[in-house]
Amino acid sequence: MSAKGLTIALSGKGGVGKTFIASMLVKRLSEHGSVLAIDADPDSNLPQALGVTVKRSVGQSREDIINAPMRSPVTNAKQEYLEQAIHESIEEFPLFSIIVMGRSEGEGCYCAVNHVIRGVIDTRARGYDFTIIDCHAGLEHLSRRTTRDVDIMLVVVEPTKNSIQTATRVTEIAKELHIQFGAVLVVANRVTAENKPRLDELARDNGLEITAYVPFEPLVSQYDGMGKPVSDLPEDSPASKVIDEICRKILSYA
Ligand SMILES: Nc1ncnc2c1ncn2[C@@H]1O[C@H](COP(=O)(O)OP(=O)(O)OP(=O)(O)O)[C@@H](O)[C@H]1O
Ligand SMILES: [Mg+2]
Repeated sequence: MSAKGLTIALSGKGGVGKTFIASMLVKRLSEHGSVLAIDADPDSNLPQALGVTVKRSVGQSREDIINAPMRSPVTNAKQEYLEQAIHESIEEFPLFSIIVMGRSEGEGCYCAVNHVIRGVIDTRARGYDFTIIDCHAGLEHLSRRTTRDVDIMLVVVEPTKNSIQTATRVTEIAKELHIQFGAVLVVANRVTAENKPRLDELARDNGLEITAYVPFEPLVSQYDGMGKPVSDLPEDSPASKVIDEICRKILSYA
């Protein structure tokens, strides 16, 4: 494994399956090295997908600090304390560690949290072989460069025009902002024999090359509905097998 570790971010339109795929990758990649999972979605559900409960989110830590009386007259003391709190909010489980950004109330604060999470990626993530970031639906965090120096940007799409257009925007914004992505891999999700021709047509029309096709798997939504971790999907499920392929592709960049 490289000394620096590999950072993989997942983006794409809301509801395309980022969290499902991220959680599967966390479990699979944990068989190959240490994993830090970052839930960068304010409506976080990566912990549920992984079957763990996280005590504190970054947003909660931040609220506590904002509401606490100043500890020191030094102007950036709160910032330093926040960074320390964030490092402390990384929770360790047997297969992986996880940090949840969570929701942060108040104006402009998400920007501050993004700033700090970037610090976490830059410093703390170096200690892990793999860092997997489940990004939220919007692209704001990209424009704020939370995901800079991402080795692999995994863009999840489904067979809809909107999701394909969001995917093309991700690559365009990355170019405009000079965000460093080592590679951009487009992964199609919830694919069926019926919707695949439409998907391929949309991808072709928008100049996207699809790396992997994750099939529609009724068990995923069934698990979700039952509150069972989606990352517990059996290894012989066709969707699991495609995720294994994606994993091998990721490992080829390590
Ligand atoms: N391959 C699949 N087959 C069947 N259902 C799936 C598949 N992938 C995801 N789902 C279902 O689709 C829904 C959305 O998935 P998920 O939460 O992973 O998407 P998301 O991109 O993280 O969404 P959000 O943008 O809201 O965070 C969930 O109910 C999940 O169970
Ligand atoms: Mg999600």
